[in-house]
Amino acid sequence: MSSSNDTGDGGGSIVVVGAGPGLGAAVARRFGREGYGVGLVARDRARLDALVADLAADGVPARGYTADVRDAEQLTDALGAAAADLGPVEILQYSPAPHRDFMRPVLETGPRDLLGPIEFSVYGAVAAVREVLPGMRERGRGTLLFVNGGTAAVPHPERAGTSVAFAAESAYAHLLHERLAPEGIHVSQLIIPGAIVPGHVRKDPAILAETLWGLHCDRTGFRHYADDLDS
Ligand SMILES: NC(=O)c1ccc[n+]([C@@H]2O[C@H](COP(=O)([O-])OP(=O)(O)OC[C@H]3O[C@@H](n4cnc5c(N)ncnc54)[C@H](OP(=O)(O)O)[C@@H]3O)[C@@H](O)[C@H]2O)c1
Repeated sequence: MSSSNDTGDGGGSIVVVGAGPGLGAAVARRFGREGYGVGLVARDRARLDALVADLAADGVPARGYTADVRDAEQLTDALGAAAADLGPVEILQYSPAPHRDFMRPVLETGPRDLLGPIEFSVYGAVAAVREVLPGMRERGRGTLLFVNGGTAAVPHPERAGTSVAFAAESAYAHLLHERLAPEGIHVSQLIIPGAIVPGHVRKDPAILAETLWGLHCDRTGFRHYADDLDS
């Protein structure tokens, strides 16, 4: 491993919570190349198996763990299993792709419509962090990466659920950033305005994965933007 976070004892892993063929796969490739064990968490076993097979064909060994981030017990079990198989979680990336139903207009959004987005973006993030953080604090190192769309920075009236929930997730992550920096644990958020676009100069999945690798290595600041907010 060549991370500035590396203390040379090896055996660490990255777990991507919410991993699919886009950003999740690209991050698996980028961090896997550095020697980290790679754990991928998503709901669908068949899709995970296909992703693991794709990565293996490219020489990136990864393992898939099924969990719905909206079910804290499933999520913590998955993270525990990943750590047991792959070694302590040195890097946690929280980046499940939000459901379309979370993006309803603000005037059509009632309390129940916020349940899903909040469970997804806040409760899931908190459950994941609380599972991996004790080990990071014990070892005195670790990285927590949060990935969000542009509504985390600028709420959108047609996407109320994600706007509200991403804001709460951002606040939680920012608090962690402040609190954990003195312990050697780095917390960053990458905001990706607009869509992830293969071939895009800044928003191709492999380029975003490089950006995330840079956040892990450079360990500066909380919020980072993958592109201009109005893009
Ligand atoms: N795609 C974009 O255009 C875009 C734009 C801006 C920001 N982002 C951010 O980029 C990240 C996603 O990257 P991506 O779109 O390229 O996705 P990806 O890594 O290709 O796939 C994300 C995976 O999240 C999993 N997921 C969804 N709901 C889940 C749940 N409830 N529990 C567990 N896993 C769940 C899905 O797998 P299962 O269905 O098997 O669970 C999906 O394959 C997110 O942080 C998103 O906010 C994406």
